[in-house]
Amino acid sequence: MVNFDNILKYLAVQAPLRAFSGEDFNATKMAVQEYTLPALPYAYNALEPHISAQIMELHHSKHHQAYVTNLNNALKLHVAAVGAGDIASQIEMQQVIKFNGGGHINHSLFWKNLAPAESEETKPEAAKKLVAAVEKTWGSLDDFKKVFSSTLLGIQGSGWGWLVKDSVNGLRIVTTKDQDPVVGRDVPVFGVDMWEHAYYLQYLNGKAAYVENIWNVINWKTAEERFLGTSEVTKL
Ligand SMILES: [Fe+2]
Repeated sequence: MVNFDNILKYLAVQAPLRAFSGEDFNATKMAVQEYTLPALPYAYNALEPHISAQIMELHHSKHHQAYVTNLNNALKLHVAAVGAGDIASQIEMQQVIKFNGGGHINHSLFWKNLAPAESEETKPEAAKKLVAAVEKTWGSLDDFKKVFSSTLLGIQGSGWGWLVKDSVNGLRIVTTKDQDPVVGRDVPVFGVDMWEHAYYLQYLNGKAAYVENIWNVINWKTAEERFLGTSEVTKL
């Protein structure tokens, strides 16, 4: 299980906004949490024909695993650099933690906001309150899908598209670059991986077809739970 709270607490401790007190944190005594690859909630071939088993297996067992491995290594090196007072190495590792920690968070969210096509979870009826809010914001679910799809296709390079809930402004569509996660007051409702590794083996340069088909496997039940705050997004 990914404990996002611990990652966020760890990062907050590394970049305190107030005067640092030695009592707050002692790097030499800090136990570094070891993160592990979460199991998929379905089989590798469960999202076919929309996402092939080959893509799912590589994406989960190789790409996501690499983010987890690199995150764990970087966390250990960062703690060592803090203990040694090596600022340059700390900064270097912070970038590695950001990238791989973000990759771990994003993919953990992504697997759970997908489900086999035709399952109950992939029917918008599983998200009555979320869909009502979407209709209020974008006019209709179809109009929202058009805007979201267009946003996904507008991402340059590697990144993610997200539907987020903001306690002040309601629902919004945002994109994040590379493996940057959704942070701050935005709660990710669902996200779509727009890295080439998410679709290229099956769709080649047909990115639009990937985006069109992803709607068949969006898990609206999970999205509703995140929207309502009944699933602990940050403690997956
Ligand atoms: Fe990915």
